[in-house]
Amino acid sequence: MGLRPLDLSKWLEYDERCDEELSLKAQLIASDYDAVVATNPEGDDASVELLGEIKRFLHEVHPGRSTDTVASEHPVVQASRLAQEDFCVLVKEDTWRLRAACVCFPSRWDLASKIGTTLDDIHSPVPLYDQELARPTNAFFDRLTPDKSFWRLNWTLLDSPVLHQRTSTRRAPRGDLSAWFFRVERQSLRQLPITRATIFTIRTYVTSAAALRENDDEFVSSLLRALDSAPASVQRYKGWTGVATRLRDAL
Ligand code: HEM
Repeated sequence: MGLRPLDLSKWLEYDERCDEELSLKAQLIASDYDAVVATNPEGDDASVELLGEIKRFLHEVHPGRSTDTVASEHPVVQASRLAQEDFCVLVKEDTWRLRAACVCFPSRWDLASKIGTTLDDIHSPVPLYDQELARPTNAFFDRLTPDKSFWRLNWTLLDSPVLHQRTSTRRAPRGDLSAWFFRVERQSLRQLPITRATIFTIRTYVTSAAALRENDDEFVSSLLRALDSAPASVQRYKGWTGVATRLRDAL
């Protein structure tokens, strides 16, 4: 599962792209609300608690940042306007279900089709999830406590730097490395102390592969190693089939 312990003073990350990304979120919420926000009443209490936790985090860790929000908006939307992260709220019922989310920067998945569903349903397109990850992921959610939080990384290669990628078509990146972007998701998982909901955050970083190659001698060899070692089903899902060969040919 690739989970590492998270120091909660590093829960949310702010960088020089903050203003630009928050205004992009505002545009998407205004123009495409139903694509980027999904809520069920079962997630309302936890969303209120989430908003409170973000405000507390900001007071403690980034005291200069404004925590002003518009109270008439859904709390998960207010939460999303305060950070570069996307937020998902999962509530334990018969099993863990996604009950509220504001996801402005999806990596090729569609939020509306996942709201209300379980961890297993959310991950149904992911190869090997069922066999290798479903059981440990559900067990991890059941064992999570408010005093121990975690983070993990997920990455892929795309031919576009656009943050909002809703289409679920996972085709191979076009062109060569000069046109590719390395897209990394820093995901965090924590349990809220009162509602005991689990908060899943997704922070998306996009960097041009050419810039990474320029600044890091190991980049291309590590990339090739990762592409080569992924099982064929994962390569198909990620749109990586043939990419390593194309990269070698181009070099
Ligand atoms: C320990 C927790 C989790 C693990 C180990 C995990 C693992 C994974 C993996 C391996 C993938 C395939 C992604 C790729 O390689 O590109 C994936 C995709 C995804 N995950 Fe998770 N995940 C976790 C938690 C969550 C949670 C809490 C959500 C809640 C929204 C979530 C939503 C998704 C979605 C939407 C996708 C894309 C699915 C699609 O293609 O439609 N994950 N996850």
